[in-house]
Amino acid sequence: MANLGTTELDVFRLCLGGNVFGWTADETDSFAVLDAYAAAGGNFIDTADTYMRPNMGVSETIIGRWMAARGNRDDIVLATKVGSDGGLSAGNIREHAEASLRRLQTDRIDLYYAHKDDLDTPVAETLRAFDELVREGKVRHIAASNLSAERLRESLDVSWREGLAEYVALQPHYNLVEREGYEREYAPVVEEHNLACLPYYALAKGFLTGKYRPGGPDVESPRSKGALAYLDGRGERVLAALDQVAAERAAPVAAVALAWLSAQPGVVSPIASARSVEQLEALLPAVGLKLTDEELATLTEASA
Ligand SMILES: NC(=O)c1ccc[n+]([C@@H]2O[C@H](COP(=O)([O-])OP(=O)(O)OC[C@H]3O[C@@H](n4cnc5c(N)ncnc54)[C@H](OP(=O)(O)O)[C@@H]3O)[C@@H](O)[C@H]2O)c1
Repeated sequence: MANLGTTELDVFRLCLGGNVFGWTADETDSFAVLDAYAAAGGNFIDTADTYMRPNMGVSETIIGRWMAARGNRDDIVLATKVGSDGGLSAGNIREHAEASLRRLQTDRIDLYYAHKDDLDTPVAETLRAFDELVREGKVRHIAASNLSAERLRESLDVSWREGLAEYVALQPHYNLVEREGYEREYAPVVEEHNLACLPYYALAKGFLTGKYRPGGPDVESPRSKGALAYLDGRGERVLAALDQVAAERAAPVAAVALAWLSAQPGVVSPIASARSVEQLEALLPAVGLKLTDEELATLTEASA
């Protein structure tokens, strides 16, 4: 477990991505994945009001039904998001927060994200709306995703100046084959403000599981086009380095990729999804896998 930035929340060092629930995993398979994750000690679930378009809200509904069926709401650190449907105006945040709470069958969201920026709404309006939800106890902490580094800094400044709730975590696009944007733009803000970094697409849409190979068999997934885009010279070097470390450590390739991410400065818990229990089983070993400096360097150099 790890502390979520400056908060009192303790989270498992693998956050379970929820965009598969009701998309590539039906409700029965979603419950099985959630049960297996919880049985392994997992307590940190990520979703959004828009998962998964066009069936918006279905992921939250499934998670809500699962927590109600298992009676485990208090054991879970629940993260959801607002803003990719209708923006970050005060009215839209209020309306979407209430709808998320209903679908999740709970009275509070532990970590509530601005999902993407809304350049038509001043950051002060967004933060005042979030702050109201925090003061009402409907949200415990707020976080940001997909804001420019500049708007993220501006938001942190406004919260500080106005005494409003402030972003405690950042959810960036960051993994072994997507490094530059995060490491150059965001890592300095994360360090300066002690933000918890919770990277999304931690498996690069499945590429970092090693199932996409040159001349390999077709992969049945709506993500395959996005994942295959990484299969270039650098992607092949990354796969070779992952294969080497995975063989030495007798660990799944996906777990090694997640362990590399977990070892980066500021990263608290990478976010990855699994559409079946079998897939999840290849991710869970990441939690106990501490890579040596040499192994980390091999992976970092291969992905440069
Ligand atoms: N803030 C944002 O804007 C944003 C954007 C994207 C995602 N997210 C969050 O981040 C989470 C993680 O991203 P993601 O789920 O889109 O992608 P990901 O974690 O990079 O990739 C997960 C996918 O890889 C495949 N996979 C997982 N384990 C596997 C295994 N052992 N063997 C073979 N294939 C395996 C599965 O897809 P297939 O079986 O279909 O190949 C799985 O759904 C999401 O669920 C969501 O909560 C946030």
